[in-house]
Amino acid sequence: MKTLIVMLLITPGLMAALPAESTEPNAATLPSLPGARTNLGITETARGCIECHNEHNPGLVGDWAASRHAHSRVTCIDCHRAGPADSDINQDHLQYDKTPVSAIVSTRDCSRCHPAEAAEYDRSKHARTLDIIWQIDPWLRDGMNNTIERVTGCDHCHGSVVKPDADGRLDANVWPNVGVGRLNPDGSRGSCSSCHTRHKFSIAEARKPGACGQCHLGPDHPQIEIYDESKHGAIYQAQGDEWNWEVAAGVWTPQVHYRSPTCSVCHMSAINGLASTHDVTERLAWETQAPLTIRPGEFAPLPAKNDWRLEREKMFKVCLACHSKTWTQGHFDQFDAAVVNYNEVYYKPMKRLIDELYEKKLLSKEKNLDERLEIEMYELWHHEGRRARFGAAMMAPDYAWWHGFYELKKRCMEIEEQTARLIESGKPATVHKVKGADGPTTKPTLDN
Ligand code: HEC
Ligand code: HEC
Ligand code: HEC
Ligand code: HEC
Ligand code: HEC
Ligand code: HEC
Ligand code: HEC
Ligand code: HEC
Repeated sequence: MKTLIVMLLITPGLMAALPAESTEPNAATLPSLPGARTNLGITETARGCIECHNEHNPGLVGDWAASRHAHSRVTCIDCHRAGPADSDINQDHLQYDKTPVSAIVSTRDCSRCHPAEAAEYDRSKHARTLDIIWQIDPWLRDGMNNTIERVTGCDHCHGSVVKPDADGRLDANVWPNVGVGRLNPDGSRGSCSSCHTRHKFSIAEARKPGACGQCHLGPDHPQIEIYDESKHGAIYQAQGDEWNWEVAAGVWTPQVHYRSPTCSVCHMSAINGLASTHDVTERLAWETQAPLTIRPGEFAPLPAKNDWRLEREKMFKVCLACHSKTWTQGHFDQFDAAVVNYNEVYYKPMKRLIDELYEKKLLSKEKNLDERLEIEMYELWHHEGRRARFGAAMMAPDYAWWHGFYELKKRCMEIEEQTARLIESGKPATVHKVKGADGPTTKPTLDN
């Protein structure tokens, strides 16, 4: 039988799992290092999991072995053991091991050892996004897309409702999934591996912009593209490889460990006297993703409890770690003026035109997104309107102008022309039978 030796290295923080026989598939990819002590503090049962899985999924075990968890003797069982009452016990697995296990590791499971991170995450928009999108999104509420379009799209970013069947099996409509707002079988929300991929669960990975850019990209929320074209991003690309990404939260310090901010620095990390947070809703003074920009406290689906002025002060403090007051104030004055410009010059006048068409019954209110003008109005705020605001917020002039305000001007011409044509003809707009528009219109829960 092949045995696995878990080695504790002299270098702190580094562990490697090495199979005794070099015929193991992962032997070549794991470094062979001297000074090993065997199986320090790892129980028999845990060793069983590690050994057998090292044969079946060596890549997975290698990741775990290289993690801080392995170094701290946090093993497979600490995360995967299921309680007797859990609905997600993998019944098929009892043939391999008598310890009941579940593939799902919820935010509640992680919270046993990381209560502060879990509590902050739970109150953020990330964890609450399923409630939000089912309150406001026409694709879902009007059933304008179907299940597979949601499963392969929305759900991988926003999260699925993970409901096992009676045998603890998970069907392909809900699993695999690590969306930020996933609803877990134990009722907890979210998935920590949205940003800390298993089984390394690395702090360094989460601090790099790519961890956020998996979801924060594309025509409607191009934060990663915006970051890449900002000076901050250019410095990260030029020098990021030399920075120290591994230091613990709270002591990761500008100039000592890095020179320009990443998403994590501005939105999450401790800096300049600010505490670190897993609540990404902190430090924000606007809802710049909304059709009409409003304050976070005015966002009806999830009104923020904090005062936006205090949150702005926090973000301001982030900048002061590296910039002067005048420079920072200048940036926020520009950003706030761009927000007002979008609201007043573009959004409100176009919204008035569209509302008039609804009143005159030239547009139908029955469903959203099945008439050309509804799509035009949607893209106005959801695509270029967001890009203009995000570009101004995060120092990306190309997004503020070419992908933003310039496109807004064009979109307004289109809306005005189509509106004039409808009014002239007096005939209601064509209502399209949108393809694939047969998705369920009730919010999924753990019970339905
Ligand atoms: C004797 C071999 C063996 C042992 C011991 C073993 N497993 Fe497994 N385990 C498997 C196999 C085989 C699978 C099925 C893998 C697959 O679906 O490809 C599996 C599946 C799993 C899954 C679910 C994967 C999924 O996607 O549904 C988890 C989680 C898991 N094992 C954890 C553990 C833990 C924790 C232990 C120790 C308590 C353990 N295993 C012990 C062989 C083993
Ligand atoms: C720190 C917690 C943690 C530890 C320790 C841990 N896992 Fe996992 N594991 C997870 C998470 C999180 C997932 C993703 C499931 C989810 O999203 O709920 C996962 C998924 C899995 C899966 C299924 C996914 C896949 O990629 O096939 C298997 C199998 C698995 N783990 C086995 C193991 C084994 C074996 C060990 C020990 C070597 C281990 N895990 C240690 C948290 C952990
Ligand atoms: C049984 C306790 C335990 C559980 C359960 C647990 N952790 Fe940990 N975790 C630890 C310990 C101990 C450390 C090491 C702390 C240190 O180095 O200061 C750690 C460190 C971490 C780190 C920092 C890693 C780094 O690179 O510095 C992350 C991220 C993390 N855990 C995420 C998770 C996630 C996500 C889960 C659930 C999937 C989880 N943990 C479950 C105990 C646990
Ligand atoms: C690539 C990942 C991704 C996909 C796919 C995706 N979204 Fe999103 N969605 C996001 C991100 C990221 C945001 C945050 C935008 C921001 O604040 O800048 C968001 C924001 C939203 C919002 C606005 C929430 C608010 O607070 O105002 C709604 C509603 C929404 N998405 C619904 C959906 C629906 C429905 C689908 C599928 C039809 C979908 N999304 C597909 C990542 C995604
Ligand atoms: C939105 C992405 C994201 C999600 C989701 C996320 N984290 Fe983190 N996490 C980060 C970032 C970024 C850092 C580094 C923060 C810093 O520099 O202070 C971090 C740091 C950590 C640390 C290290 C803290 C320390 O004291 O060293 C732990 C532990 C951790 N996260 C656990 C979790 C747990 C548990 C969850 C789920 C409840 C989770 N994270 C969900 C992004 C995330
Ligand atoms: C798995 C996908 C995913 C990842 C990874 C992710 N996000 Fe998000 N994020 C979302 C979605 C979806 C939303 C929109 C939630 C809503 O408004 O309903 C969002 C919203 C946000 C918001 C707006 C919050 C608010 O209150 O308006 C911020 C800020 C944010 N994310 C920052 C980050 C940062 C920083 C990271 C990386 C450390 C990150 N996100 C990683 C999916 C993701
Ligand atoms: C230099 C600091 C900085 C960096 C780096 C940064 N952001 Fe931002 N971000 C901001 C500021 C400032 C705002 C506007 C805050 C406000 O509402 O006043 C913002 C706004 C946002 C929003 C819109 C939130 C909303 O609902 O209105 C999201 C989402 C977001 N950032 C995600 C990211 C992601 C993802 C990255 C990395 C790819 C990133 N940010 C990098 C400073 C930064
Ligand atoms: C960790 C340090 C650090 C933090 C934190 C930081 N910046 Fe910067 N920032 C830099 C560096 C370095 C440059 C490049 C300076 C140069 O242009 O020579 C820069 C450049 C800029 C620029 C110039 C952009 C351009 O296109 O010329 C602006 C504006 C800016 N930062 C605003 C901010 C704001 C606003 C915040 C807070 C939300 C912030 N920065 C946070 C380090 C930082």
